[in-house]
Formats: sequence, C-alpha cells, structure tokens
Amino acid sequence: MKATRRPLVAGNWKMHLDEAEAAALAEATAAIASQAPAVDVAILPSFHLLRRVLDRTSGTSCAVGAQNLHHEDRGAFTGEVSGASLARMGLRFVLTGHSERRTLFGESDRTVRLKVAAARRHGLVPILCVGETESERDGGRTLGVVERQLREAFEGLAAPRGDELVVAYEPVWAIGTGRTPTPPQVEEVHRSIREILRLLAGTSGERIRILYGGSVTADNAGSLLTLPEVDGGLVGGASLDPRKFAAIVAAKAA
Ligand code: PGA
Repeated sequence: MKATRRPLVAGNWKMHLDEAEAAALAEATAAIASQAPAVDVAILPSFHLLRRVLDRTSGTSCAVGAQNLHHEDRGAFTGEVSGASLARMGLRFVLTGHSERRTLFGESDRTVRLKVAAARRHGLVPILCVGETESERDGGRTLGVVERQLREAFEGLAAPRGDELVVAYEPVWAIGTGRTPTPPQVEEVHRSIREILRLLAGTSGERIRILYGGSVTADNAGSLLTLPEVDGGLVGGASLDPRKFAAIVAAKAA
C-alpha cells in the first residue's frame, strides 16, 4: 500500500524579524494555516521570538519550531540553547543541518548527527537538511553527497517512526539565490532520498516527509512542490510575506 504523507510547508524566518514583525507575521501565518486544513504549516523563528510566536499561534493549527539546538541538555556552552529547553517551551520542530549552519558555523556531519539525536531524545521533530553545493552538482556528486549526509545523520539512531523526522532537500546553490533545480532534477534527488530512507528506516522510511527547499516562490511552488516524493517545502524568503506564503501553501493543498 502506498504511504500517505500529510503535506508540510515550513517557513524558515532566519534572523530577519523584530518582535512586532514576528507577532504580526505569526498571526497572519496562523490564519493561512487555518485555511489549509489538509496541509501542516510550521514557522521557525529565532530563539528570542519563540515565546511571543507561541503565544500568538496558541490554539491554532500553526506549529512552531526552532532554527537550531545544542545537543547537550545543559552545561557550560555559552550562547547555546538545549533541545531540552526547546521541548519544554512546547515546540514541535527544530532545523538541523541547514546549509547556513554547516557552511557559516562549521557544523560537521557529526554535529548534525548529535543534534538530530538530541532532538529525538526530547520529542522534537528534526527537519534534517541535506543538499549539494554548486561544485558538487557540477562534479556529478549530488546523490553521493546527499546519501553521505543522510547516512551520517542516521548513524546510531533508532529508526524514527514516520512522523518523528522530516528531511529537507535544499541544494546549497539554490538557497536565497532565486535559482532552482529543474523539476526532473528535484524529482531525481527526492526519489533517491526515498530509497535511502527505506534502507535506513525500513517501512518508516516510506512515511518520512521529504521537503524541497531553496528559492521556493509563489510562482514555482506549483511545479516543484507537487512533484512525486515532494511532500512540501522549506521556505525562507517567501515565508516573510504572507501573500506569497499563502500561495505556496495553497499550491501544496491543491
Ligand atoms: P530561501 O531559503 O527560500 O530564501 O531560498 C530556504 C532555506 O534556507 O531554508
């Protein structure tokens, strides 16, 4: 039987908003979520906005997640926030392995693995980002890179049930650039990720959602997010504009 997976569209707000902007956007996004009951909608604000965003979305179908976590539960880790603390706040998701964390903050595959495990330990759903750089794609290494990132993140991990982990395929060269892979290129990588998930997680691998991310817009969502094995989107820039984000959610709901 073919697994049914609920679509998910998540907005990665990065370090963009102040408190007032975040409150207004949280309310607008919750309204978008309420109009799309067939799609799970989530927003991922910076740490300092989480309490306010949780308050503004409380009682709505809009889920909230963090953009990062530390893998230890407590200790001398100046400037870090533990998965334990995030879980206690009532968050559902946490990003792990985003390319900005990997490239700008030096996160290795091992760090990502520890973060995925910590998120799971505390009942948070990690959104595990994988994807190739432009030179890796040009060198024909896309599928190999994605496979390595997935295998490293899953090493030693108890196979997650389908709803306990989300994978996001985000080609590094497509993030914030306005460039996207072609639909056949997206489809090829998503099919390959699905195969690897079946190997790593058994039957649950069929139920893990795989999102596409990287310059998703209101204009390309209809062609990219509706491809086979694309269960939704991880949206950066366009998640800051309720009109654009609503169109992306609607494209996935259609
Ligand atoms: P973008 O960002 O939609 O602005 O390209 C996506 C992401 O970084 O998750």
